[in-house]
Amino acid sequence: MSQILITGGTGVLGSKLVALLKEKHTVRIMSRRPRPAAFDPSVEWAQADLATGAGLAEAVAGIEIVLHAASDPAQHSYETDVEGTQRLIDALRGQPLRHFIYISIVGIDRIPYSYYENKLKTEHLIAASGVPYTILRATQFHELIDRVLEPLTRYLPILLLPLDAQFQLIDSGEVAQAMSSLVDQPPCGLLPDMGGPQIQRLRDLLPAWLQAHHRRRLIIPLHYPGTVFAGFRAGLNTCPTHRQGTITWAQWLARTYPQ
Ligand SMILES: NC(=O)c1ccc[n+]([C@@H]2O[C@H](COP(=O)([O-])OP(=O)(O)OC[C@H]3O[C@@H](n4cnc5c(N)ncnc54)[C@H](OP(=O)(O)O)[C@@H]3O)[C@@H](O)[C@H]2O)c1
Repeated sequence: MSQILITGGTGVLGSKLVALLKEKHTVRIMSRRPRPAAFDPSVEWAQADLATGAGLAEAVAGIEIVLHAASDPAQHSYETDVEGTQRLIDALRGQPLRHFIYISIVGIDRIPYSYYENKLKTEHLIAASGVPYTILRATQFHELIDRVLEPLTRYLPILLLPLDAQFQLIDSGEVAQAMSSLVDQPPCGLLPDMGGPQIQRLRDLLPAWLQAHHRRRLIIPLHYPGTVFAGFRAGLNTCPTHRQGTITWAQWLARTYPQ
């Protein structure tokens, strides 16, 4: 039994890590929010903010293994992901840390998207920090496409979308399984990429999603300019020779939105 800190333990991936690890280990979640009143009493909760450093010293007290899944792609990515990871590692000095496990993204070194550049800087600072580490890069989760399409299609009857963008969607539960299994292994640096079972363009993902949500929308293909969208069109975010995930988009939709 180890004392484990799961940053981002309230998120899509992190909440699955908590569920997988809490029986065998002492698990502490880090979140910016206060502990919810009815939260599982077997899981510890540390209120802390990577972007400011508030609460970090308390969050890392006694920690042996970190699963670092906190991230803020939309708002304060540099402060949270890059500077926040440095703050986290600094706070861990003097703790009995044995393994720092980081979740990253396939293709961050090939697509010049500012969030990906921050993830790459974060990988580099972890590698240079001297902490015993493992980095797992995964492709996009099913939930990501779901989260983007839901608000976009809620009110607009017509949508302009980059239908040529490619994705190798993976089940976040399968990524959580892979990441949680690293807890029992020695640190091993950057692992081979982990991808989902199929590579599809957005035009192939959309119809099943709209059907699952009982929405009819007019979709117009738009050729977004720039190197970022060129990267997604070329599938630089995929790893065709690594298809460890087994759950397809259709299976995920059927499970998540039963008709
Ligand atoms: N989503 C994907 O498709 C995908 C694919 C590959 C890799 N990844 C990586 O997997 C990780 C998790 O992604 P996800 O989609 O599961 O994330 P998510 O659901 O958006 O959750 C983000 C988590 O980060 C925490 N967080 C954000 N800002 C914070 C701050 N300043 N201080 C402390 N905690 C903070 C949030 O906690 P509170 O709100 O409770 O504070 C939340 O638990 C990320 O590193 C991401 O890059 C994601």
